[in-house]
Amino acid sequence: MRAWQVQELGEPRDVLRLSDLAETTPGPGQIRVRVLASAANFPDALMCRGLYQVRPDLPFTPGVELCGEVLETGDGADEFVVGDRVVGGSVLPHGGFAEEAVLEAAGSYPAPEGLDDAQAGGFFLGYQTGWFGLHRRAGLQPGETLLVHAAAGGVGSAAVQLGKAAGARVIGVVGGADKAAVARRLGADVVVDRHTEDFVSVVKEVTGGRGADVVYDPVGGGTYDRSTKCIAFEGRILVVGFAGGTIQTPSLSHALVKNYSVLGLHWGLYPGLDPNAVGECHVELSRLVGTGAIAPLVSERLALEDLADGVQRLADGATTGRVVWVAAP
Ligand SMILES: NC(=O)c1ccc[n+]([C@@H]2O[C@H](COP(=O)([O-])OP(=O)(O)OC[C@H]3O[C@@H](n4cnc5c(N)ncnc54)[C@H](OP(=O)(O)O)[C@@H]3O)[C@@H](O)[C@H]2O)c1
Repeated sequence: MRAWQVQELGEPRDVLRLSDLAETTPGPGQIRVRVLASAANFPDALMCRGLYQVRPDLPFTPGVELCGEVLETGDGADEFVVGDRVVGGSVLPHGGFAEEAVLEAAGSYPAPEGLDDAQAGGFFLGYQTGWFGLHRRAGLQPGETLLVHAAAGGVGSAAVQLGKAAGARVIGVVGGADKAAVARRLGADVVVDRHTEDFVSVVKEVTGGRGADVVYDPVGGGTYDRSTKCIAFEGRILVVGFAGGTIQTPSLSHALVKNYSVLGLHWGLYPGLDPNAVGECHVELSRLVGTGAIAPLVSERLALEDLADGVQRLADGATTGRVVWVAAP
């Protein structure tokens, strides 16, 4: 089977190699799937560079999430049978950037029927992360103001939709006019193009000076610093990622003086520490798919051989929504 492999660390376009590999046998509790679709996530790009908190031994196949059809079940993986259509996070080094991949059965879930393969291949991580961030960590309430950075991106687009579904007023920050149009179509009430506008003054203006109750920050660096200038009394800033390249460095004296919270979010811990909550979240997210409240934004459906360029564009900040490789486009 064909699989992209990282054999040395560097820029995705330079280090991803399309190889022919033998099929893998699933271990106990695991399932082997035919990959129907797998979205590129920023962590895939960071893993190519060796800059992610997870550093698989070389060589490895990236692709941290996917939608697949079960081909084989390992010992004790009784949750599924051959032919089931599932979504979940892959077990590296057998990621989704390949014709076949491996998942933990206990960490896999039925693919929502309302999603086609490409949408399902970009559904699991972004919406799970958004749900746990906005609801479990930040306790977002109806009527509150949610500020989402990189609002036209993968996790950002999911956060915009989930914020609207929760009854919040959503302000989306994006880089460029095309992404601004995307964020508006996603349902953001107010959109700020960071290339031409200062989001701090816009947030203050549209909230009557109060600021945002919740900030969803996958960018970090100066974006985080500026967010503290427009966070509301008792606001919550979610540290989701640092796609901008600089890790957030909170000033806790500032948090004290302005009375706000800084919340770390590492969704990847939940499947191990609270698997029931992940399952319940999947049920709720599948329900929201059914009502039409959420739907993954798939901007590019690629053949497997075109995926490395897509991962590079994601790494360069040039993509919207999800770039997905699809077995049957
Ligand atoms: N905490 C968790 O559990 C968790 C789970 C999943 C993902 N994440 C993190 O969430 C972040 C976003 O992941 P994603 O896959 O959804 O990516 P993405 O948001 O689709 O892509 C990154 C976006 O960040 C913005 N950006 C700003 N400065 C950038 C720069 N210097 N280089 C590249 N992008 C830049 C760009 O949007 P604009 O131009 O519109 O600003 C870009 O489109 C990553 O840091 C990822 O590790 C965290």
